[in-house]
Amino acid sequence: MMTKTKSAVALPLNEIIAGDCIDVMNSLPAESVDLIFADPPYNLQLRGDLHRPDNSKVDAVDDAWDQFDSFKVYDKFTRAWLKAARRLLKPNGAIWVIGSYHNIFRVGTALQDAGFWILNDVVWRKSNPMPNFRGKRFTNAHETMIWAGKDESSKYTFNYEALKALNDGIQMRSDWVLPICTGHERLKNEEGDKAHPTQKPEGLLHRLLVGSTNPGDVVLDPFFGTGTTGAVAKMLGREFIGIEREEAYRKVAAKRIASVRKFDREALAVSTSKRAEPRVPFGQLVERGMLRPGEQLYSMNNRHKAKVRADGTLIGDDVKGSIHQVGAHLEGAPSCNGWTYWCFKREGKTVPIDVLRQQIRSEMHD
Ligand SMILES: C[S@@+](CC[C@H](N)C(=O)[O-])C[C@H]1O[C@@H](n2cnc3c(N)ncnc32)[C@H](O)[C@@H]1O
Repeated sequence: MMTKTKSAVALPLNEIIAGDCIDVMNSLPAESVDLIFADPPYNLQLRGDLHRPDNSKVDAVDDAWDQFDSFKVYDKFTRAWLKAARRLLKPNGAIWVIGSYHNIFRVGTALQDAGFWILNDVVWRKSNPMPNFRGKRFTNAHETMIWAGKDESSKYTFNYEALKALNDGIQMRSDWVLPICTGHERLKNEEGDKAHPTQKPEGLLHRLLVGSTNPGDVVLDPFFGTGTTGAVAKMLGREFIGIEREEAYRKVAAKRIASVRKFDREALAVSTSKRAEPRVPFGQLVERGMLRPGEQLYSMNNRHKAKVRADGTLIGDDVKGSIHQVGAHLEGAPSCNGWTYWCFKREGKTVPIDVLRQQIRSEMHD
């Protein structure tokens, strides 16, 4: 069995574990998981059957796993599984919990009380919601996902550039318009009925995992259902751990995940921001002889020049300081990115100093 932890207990990677999620989570090694996605019981409190205007019965969530005697019982359960989940997260880990108006406010309070640090609430707006059959309330067209770090200081993963790229170059917002799970994606049982009443769409998990995990990360889903999290994690080259109480759902999930193919390595790489790349101090270019002390640098607009000093600072006519400070002073600007401002000359050609930084970075990646 594969293990990724320092602990003696091996992590059951890419397995679906049978049982109650609190017991199972308590048996797993602490600080071993990068991300948790949880789609817990909604506690819908349905009273009696729901019918359409033509009197046909609505296939609502009336399963035993969604029944709690009172809010108090539901809160106790929520607090217990959140505590078990938080223990499993690595210090920089994070959690997503999805829910509806029935439960998400209670879950939000419990999350904060447990020490999690809320980062965003994301509204999943359903482009094809089920109508309100009785016409007595608004069409319930969204669910809420709370994204929270293990604690306030967690350096959680956020692939900002990748999410922006997914959204045609525009910053990803906290309202996601995606269809509910229908068509070929909706799993059926042998009788041809829905295999699970609350199967989530893969598109939702795709966005969430691309945005908040990296390939190789361990993603745990304590309410696995049909295994949507596992299927998408496998496609995206993440490891998963699923926990599900009901045997019928475990079987559906296992069959589904077995038929999923992982995308190839190249396709899994996502856009990263410059900020995520290793820092290279300008002085290193001087230490390594890529630029000589005394060498002249020229501004990109060719209006200014300054000389490199042995300590990695620049000196101009009436200014000295870092590449950024000198650039800002010469341009009369509050700040300046020296890496994109300064150039040097080689064999008659003007070359941006950033080329040298890229050269050092590529050696770091090798
Ligand atoms: C809302 S559904 C999750 C659906 C899933 N996200 C999907 O896409 O198929 C919640 C699931 O949690 C399971 N469940 C409920 N309470 C549980 C518990 N205490 N331990 C383990 N599983 C539980 C239910 O059987 C149900 O399949």
